[in-house]
Amino acid sequence: MTQTLTLRRPDDWHLHLRDGAMLEAVLPSTAAHFARAIIMPNLVPPVVTHKQALLYRDRILSALPSGANFTPLMTLYLTEDTDPSDVAEAHASGLVHAVKLYPAGATTNSASGVSNFDKVRPVLEKMAETGMPLCVHGEVTDENIDIFDREAVFIERVLEPIRRATPGLRVVMEHITTKDAVDYASAQDGSLGATITTHHLVINRNHILAGGIKPHYYCLPVAKREEHRLALRAAATSGSARFFLGTDSAPHTDANKLLPCGCAGCFTAPNTLSILAQVFEQEGALDKLEGFTSLHGPSFYKLPANDETITLFKSGATYPAHIDTAEGPVTVFDPGFALDWAVR
Ligand code: NCD
Ligand code: ZN
Repeated sequence: MTQTLTLRRPDDWHLHLRDGAMLEAVLPSTAAHFARAIIMPNLVPPVVTHKQALLYRDRILSALPSGANFTPLMTLYLTEDTDPSDVAEAHASGLVHAVKLYPAGATTNSASGVSNFDKVRPVLEKMAETGMPLCVHGEVTDENIDIFDREAVFIERVLEPIRRATPGLRVVMEHITTKDAVDYASAQDGSLGATITTHHLVINRNHILAGGIKPHYYCLPVAKREEHRLALRAAATSGSARFFLGTDSAPHTDANKLLPCGCAGCFTAPNTLSILAQVFEQEGALDKLEGFTSLHGPSFYKLPANDETITLFKSGATYPAHIDTAEGPVTVFDPGFALDWAVR
């Protein structure tokens, strides 16, 4: 039986680090295991311009523990007022790697997102020209659409029309949660990638709702039926380069999660790799783990894979139930099973 597993150092292609005290508290968990991460721009106020992205990057670098080897890959938050030339300059700097599309109102801090997609057409055309990827939060915000259907409806009503109208635009379907998204992504060419989170490989909607409500399992897009979780596991472990890891680790204090209207987000940074090793082993696909965590993402983003490696040992993993921040504790995602694989 395999007792150690050595992988090229992983990258996280969708991460929330927040700012200030929260940034300081959560960054070490990611930097301990990951070489790079695509940093989400949904701060308050959002990271909209090239200049704001560089300032945020500086704050992240200053918050790194000494000796850490971690590179933040910055993104810009797309608004209806985004200037195409600012986006092009940001991309040319080599420090800003994607633009993030939040449909207005879809998730945490998305009020400045896009309602009228015609208004962002010039930006998308510039991105198609320069090869800069668009990271998409793929849920419609129409109140008449059931929350469990919002991803599938988005593909048909928004994503496919945008891609048809903007040939050459490179798109990442982020944190996909449905078989519909897996099937759509599988049928496209290399101009489309899809990230899958750790938690969506582990939980379905019963975990959130059956036997009492579990706020720590509530995230957006919300976990769906079991058949969708199984489709995600099959996609992640398939070896297809279309699918790669974006943890969507999204810390919120327990005080903000445990409210009558609690925040969406699972904090998985500390134990993500142990959970993924377990999932891939359960699927008999440990040989596919490196592709998912360390190879397919760099290839989509046209970056070299990391030269360094990390090793996981099958010796039992422990992780803190929560991490302390100056704003209060943040609960670490509990996969509901013991973890065999430890990163040391
Ligand atoms: C994210 C957050 O908290 O910023 N929450 C989440 O549930 N994933 C936003 C997001 O990525 O949708
Ligand atoms: Zn996210």
